[in-house]
Amino acid sequence: MERKGILYEGKAKTLYLTDGEDFLVQYFKDDTTAFDGMKKEQLEDKGLINCAISMKIFEFLEKNGVKTHFEKMLSPREMLVKKCEIIPVEVVVRNVAAGSFSRRYGVKEGTPIKEPFLELFYKSDELHDPMVCVNHVFLFGWADRDEIDFMTKEALKINNLLRNFFANIDIVLVDFKLEFGRHNGKVILADEITPDSCRLWDKSTGEVLDKDRFRKDMGNVVESYKEIYGRIMERYGE
Ligand code: TMP
Ligand code: ASP
Repeated sequence: MERKGILYEGKAKTLYLTDGEDFLVQYFKDDTTAFDGMKKEQLEDKGLINCAISMKIFEFLEKNGVKTHFEKMLSPREMLVKKCEIIPVEVVVRNVAAGSFSRRYGVKEGTPIKEPFLELFYKSDELHDPMVCVNHVFLFGWADRDEIDFMTKEALKINNLLRNFFANIDIVLVDFKLEFGRHNGKVILADEITPDSCRLWDKSTGEVLDKDRFRKDMGNVVESYKEIYGRIMERYGE
Protein backbone atom coordinates (compact mmCIF):
# COMPACT_ATOMS: atom_id res chain seq x y z
CA MET A 1 0.00 0.00 0.00
CA GLU A 2 1.42 3.37 -1.00
CA ARG A 3 2.20 6.01 1.62
CA LYS A 4 0.77 9.48 0.87
CA GLY A 5 0.81 12.78 2.81
CA ILE A 6 0.92 13.21 6.58
CA LEU A 7 -2.48 13.06 8.29
CA TYR A 8 -1.21 13.71 11.80
CA GLU A 9 2.20 14.23 13.36
CA GLY A 10 2.30 13.17 17.00
CA LYS A 11 5.17 13.35 19.48
CA ALA A 12 6.40 9.78 18.97
CA LYS A 13 4.56 8.68 15.82
CA THR A 14 3.44 10.01 12.46
CA LEU A 15 0.28 8.88 10.71
CA TYR A 16 0.34 8.89 6.90
CA LEU A 17 -2.56 8.64 4.53
CA THR A 18 -2.47 5.76 2.05
CA ASP A 19 -4.06 5.11 -1.33
CA GLY A 20 -6.69 3.06 0.55
CA GLU A 21 -9.53 5.03 2.21
CA ASP A 22 -9.71 2.72 5.18
CA PHE A 23 -6.06 2.49 6.19
CA LEU A 24 -3.20 4.60 7.52
CA VAL A 25 0.50 4.00 7.98
CA GLN A 26 1.64 4.44 11.60
CA TYR A 27 5.36 5.32 11.66
CA PHE A 28 7.29 5.04 14.97
CA LYS A 29 9.86 7.82 15.44
CA ASP A 30 12.93 7.83 17.68
CA ASP A 31 11.64 11.08 19.24
CA THR A 32 11.03 10.62 22.94
CA THR A 33 9.16 13.20 24.99
CA ALA A 34 7.95 13.66 28.53
CA PHE A 35 6.06 16.29 30.50
CA ASP A 36 3.79 17.12 27.53
CA GLY A 37 6.68 17.53 25.17
CA MET A 38 8.74 19.84 27.44
CA LYS A 39 11.58 17.29 27.56
CA LYS A 40 12.53 15.91 24.17
CA GLU A 41 15.32 13.70 22.81
CA GLN A 42 16.05 11.38 19.93
CA LEU A 43 16.88 7.88 21.20
CA GLU A 44 18.42 5.76 18.46
CA ASP A 45 16.37 2.65 17.57
CA LYS A 46 13.57 3.44 20.04
CA GLY A 47 10.98 3.68 17.24
CA LEU A 48 12.08 0.37 15.82
CA ILE A 49 11.83 -1.45 19.14
CA ASN A 50 8.49 0.17 20.03
CA CYS A 51 7.01 -0.76 16.66
CA ALA A 52 8.07 -4.39 17.19
CA ILE A 53 6.79 -4.52 20.79
CA SER A 54 3.47 -2.91 19.85
CA MET A 55 3.01 -5.40 17.00
CA LYS A 56 3.57 -8.41 19.30
CA ILE A 57 1.12 -7.00 21.84
CA PHE A 58 -1.58 -6.14 19.28
CA GLU A 59 -1.25 -9.66 17.78
CA PHE A 60 -1.54 -11.21 21.24
CA LEU A 61 -4.62 -9.11 22.06
CA GLU A 62 -6.28 -9.90 18.71
CA LYS A 63 -5.76 -13.63 19.37
CA ASN A 64 -7.56 -13.10 22.65
CA GLY A 65 -10.59 -11.37 21.19
CA VAL A 66 -9.59 -7.69 21.45
CA LYS A 67 -10.22 -5.70 18.27
CA THR A 68 -7.31 -3.37 17.48
CA HIS A 69 -6.38 -1.03 14.65
CA PHE A 70 -3.34 -3.19 13.76
CA GLU A 71 -3.42 -4.78 10.29
CA LYS A 72 0.14 -5.76 9.40
CA MET A 73 3.76 -4.67 9.45
CA LEU A 74 4.99 -2.77 6.41
CA SER A 75 8.58 -2.18 7.48
CA PRO A 76 10.45 -2.32 10.81
CA ARG A 77 9.13 1.13 11.78
CA GLU A 78 5.79 1.13 10.01
CA MET A 79 2.54 -0.67 10.58
CA LEU A 80 -0.59 -0.54 8.48
CA VAL A 81 -3.51 0.38 10.74
CA LYS A 82 -7.24 0.86 10.29
CA LYS A 83 -8.17 4.51 9.97
CA CYS A 84 -9.88 5.60 13.19
CA GLU A 85 -11.42 8.72 14.60
CA ILE A 86 -9.48 8.93 17.87
CA ILE A 87 -11.61 9.44 20.98
CA PRO A 88 -9.72 12.09 23.01
CA VAL A 89 -9.98 10.18 26.28
CA GLU A 90 -6.89 8.40 27.63
CA VAL A 91 -7.82 5.34 29.64
CA VAL A 92 -5.26 4.49 32.34
CA VAL A 93 -5.35 1.22 34.27
CA ARG A 94 -3.22 0.84 37.41
CA ASN A 95 -2.22 -2.27 39.34
CA VAL A 96 0.50 -0.71 41.50
CA ALA A 97 0.78 2.90 42.70
CA ALA A 98 3.24 5.02 40.69
CA GLY A 99 3.56 8.27 38.78
CA SER A 100 0.73 10.79 38.98
CA PHE A 101 -1.39 8.45 41.16
CA SER A 102 1.34 8.41 43.82
CA ARG A 103 1.80 12.17 43.59
CA ARG A 104 -1.90 13.05 43.56
CA TYR A 105 -3.00 10.81 46.42
CA GLY A 106 0.22 10.60 48.46
CA VAL A 107 0.60 6.83 48.01
CA LYS A 108 4.16 5.48 48.05
CA GLU A 109 5.36 4.19 44.64
CA GLY A 110 5.24 0.40 44.57
CA THR A 111 2.21 0.05 46.86
CA PRO A 112 -0.11 -2.58 45.34
CA ILE A 113 -3.60 -1.32 44.47
CA LYS A 114 -6.15 -3.83 45.78
CA GLU A 115 -7.97 -4.17 42.48
CA PRO A 116 -7.22 -2.82 38.99
CA PHE A 117 -8.04 0.87 39.08
CA LEU A 118 -9.18 2.88 36.09
CA GLU A 119 -8.76 6.61 35.47
CA LEU A 120 -9.71 8.84 32.54
CA PHE A 121 -7.73 11.79 31.17
CA TYR A 122 -8.56 14.32 28.46
CA LYS A 123 -6.00 14.01 25.66
CA SER A 124 -4.70 17.57 25.39
CA ASP A 125 -1.02 18.54 25.72
CA GLU A 126 -2.02 22.21 25.95
CA LEU A 127 -4.10 21.49 29.05
CA HIS A 128 -1.59 18.89 30.36
CA ASP A 129 -3.99 15.94 29.98
CA PRO A 130 -6.33 16.83 32.87
CA MET A 131 -7.95 13.99 34.76
CA VAL A 132 -11.67 13.75 33.98
CA CYS A 133 -14.64 11.59 34.96
CA VAL A 134 -17.45 10.19 32.79
CA ASN A 135 -19.53 13.33 33.39
CA HIS A 136 -16.89 15.35 31.52
CA VAL A 137 -16.90 12.77 28.73
CA PHE A 138 -20.66 13.25 28.23
CA LEU A 139 -20.64 17.02 28.83
CA PHE A 140 -18.03 17.60 26.13
CA GLY A 141 -19.44 14.89 23.85
CA TRP A 142 -16.17 12.96 23.55
CA ALA A 143 -17.98 9.60 23.66
CA ASP A 144 -21.46 8.28 24.43
CA ARG A 145 -22.41 5.95 27.27
CA ASP A 146 -22.14 2.74 25.24
CA GLU A 147 -18.73 3.77 23.97
CA ILE A 148 -17.29 4.67 27.36
CA ASP A 149 -18.80 1.50 28.92
CA PHE A 150 -17.13 -0.54 26.21
CA MET A 151 -13.80 1.28 26.63
CA THR A 152 -13.68 0.73 30.39
CA LYS A 153 -14.66 -2.97 30.16
CA GLU A 154 -12.20 -3.52 27.33
CA ALA A 155 -9.40 -1.75 29.25
CA LEU A 156 -9.92 -4.04 32.27
CA LYS A 157 -9.97 -7.10 30.00
CA ILE A 158 -6.75 -5.90 28.32
CA ASN A 159 -5.23 -5.43 31.79
CA ASN A 160 -5.97 -9.07 32.69
CA LEU A 161 -4.49 -10.30 29.43
CA LEU A 162 -1.39 -8.10 29.59
CA ARG A 163 -0.68 -8.77 33.26
CA ASN A 164 -0.36 -12.45 32.34
CA PHE A 165 1.55 -11.71 29.16
CA PHE A 166 4.16 -9.78 31.17
CA ALA A 167 4.10 -12.04 34.26
CA ASN A 168 5.23 -14.88 31.99
CA ILE A 169 8.39 -12.92 31.22
CA ASP A 170 9.00 -11.82 34.82
CA ILE A 171 7.71 -8.30 34.35
CA VAL A 172 5.14 -6.52 36.51
CA LEU A 173 2.61 -4.44 34.58
CA VAL A 174 2.38 -1.48 36.95
CA ASP A 175 0.09 0.71 34.83
CA PHE A 176 -0.60 1.66 31.22
CA LYS A 177 -2.51 4.06 29.00
CA LEU A 178 -4.84 3.15 26.14
CA GLU A 179 -6.44 5.15 23.35
CA PHE A 180 -9.47 4.01 21.42
CA GLY A 181 -10.89 5.11 18.07
CA ARG A 182 -14.04 4.72 15.98
CA HIS A 183 -13.76 2.62 12.86
CA ASN A 184 -16.88 1.90 10.79
CA GLY A 185 -19.04 2.87 13.77
CA LYS A 186 -17.27 0.47 16.16
CA VAL A 187 -14.81 1.35 18.94
CA ILE A 188 -11.47 -0.43 18.64
CA LEU A 189 -8.10 -0.18 20.40
CA ALA A 190 -5.77 2.28 18.64
CA ASP A 191 -2.44 4.07 19.16
CA GLU A 192 0.35 1.89 20.68
CA ILE A 193 1.19 -0.30 23.62
CA THR A 194 4.90 0.09 24.35
CA PRO A 195 7.27 0.92 27.21
CA ASP A 196 6.45 4.56 26.35
CA SER A 197 2.84 4.01 27.37
CA CYS A 198 3.23 1.44 30.18
CA ARG A 199 5.16 1.13 33.44
CA LEU A 200 7.01 -2.17 33.45
CA TRP A 201 9.17 -3.34 36.36
CA ASP A 202 11.35 -6.43 36.57
CA LYS A 203 9.54 -8.84 38.88
CA SER A 204 12.54 -9.95 40.95
CA THR A 205 14.71 -6.82 41.09
CA GLY A 206 12.06 -4.10 40.68
CA GLU A 207 14.25 -2.50 38.01
CA VAL A 208 12.37 0.10 35.96
CA LEU A 209 12.27 -0.94 32.27
CA ASP A 210 10.01 1.78 30.81
CA LYS A 211 9.86 5.49 29.91
CA ASP A 212 10.33 6.53 33.54
CA ARG A 213 14.04 5.89 32.80
CA PHE A 214 13.82 8.82 30.37
CA ARG A 215 11.52 10.97 32.54
CA LYS A 216 13.84 10.58 35.54
CA ASP A 217 17.18 10.63 33.64
CA MET A 218 18.05 7.10 34.76
CA GLY A 219 19.91 6.24 31.53
CA ASN A 220 19.84 3.01 29.46
CA VAL A 221 16.37 3.78 28.09
CA VAL A 222 16.61 1.93 24.77
CA GLU A 223 18.63 -0.88 26.42
CA SER A 224 15.69 -1.48 28.77
CA TYR A 225 13.19 -1.46 25.89
CA LYS A 226 15.43 -4.00 24.12
CA GLU A 227 15.46 -6.14 27.27
CA ILE A 228 11.65 -6.21 27.20
CA TYR A 229 11.58 -7.03 23.50
CA GLY A 230 14.17 -9.79 24.00
CA ARG A 231 12.07 -11.40 26.72
CA ILE A 232 8.91 -11.13 24.59
CA MET A 233 10.63 -12.82 21.64
CA GLU A 234 12.18 -15.52 23.82
CA ARG A 235 8.79 -16.45 25.26
CA TYR A 236 6.38 -15.65 22.41
CA GLY A 237 8.73 -16.11 19.45
CA GLU A 238 8.13 -15.37 15.79
P1 TMP B 1 0.78 8.81 35.02
O1 TMP B 1 1.13 8.08 36.27
O2 TMP B 1 1.79 9.84 34.63
O3 TMP B 1 -0.62 9.36 35.04
O4 TMP B 1 0.82 7.74 33.84
C1 TMP B 1 0.04 6.57 33.87
C2 TMP B 1 0.42 5.66 32.70
O5 TMP B 1 0.09 6.27 31.47
C3 TMP B 1 1.92 5.37 32.60
O6 TMP B 1 2.05 4.00 32.24
C4 TMP B 1 2.42 6.22 31.51
C5 TMP B 1 1.22 6.43 30.63
N1 TMP B 1 1.16 7.77 30.05
C6 TMP B 1 1.18 7.90 28.69
O7 TMP B 1 1.28 6.93 27.95
N2 TMP B 1 1.08 9.17 28.15
C7 TMP B 1 0.95 10.26 28.92
O8 TMP B 1 0.84 11.36 28.39
C8 TMP B 1 0.94 10.10 30.35
C9 TMP B 1 0.83 11.30 31.25
C10 TMP B 1 1.04 8.84 30.86
N1 ASP C 1 3.52 11.42 26.66
C1 ASP C 1 3.67 12.69 27.33
C2 ASP C 1 4.75 13.51 26.66
O1 ASP C 1 5.36 13.06 25.75
C3 ASP C 1 3.87 12.58 28.81
C4 ASP C 1 4.65 11.44 29.36
O2 ASP C 1 4.60 10.35 28.84
O3 ASP C 1 5.33 11.67 30.38
O4 ASP C 1 5.03 14.62 26.99
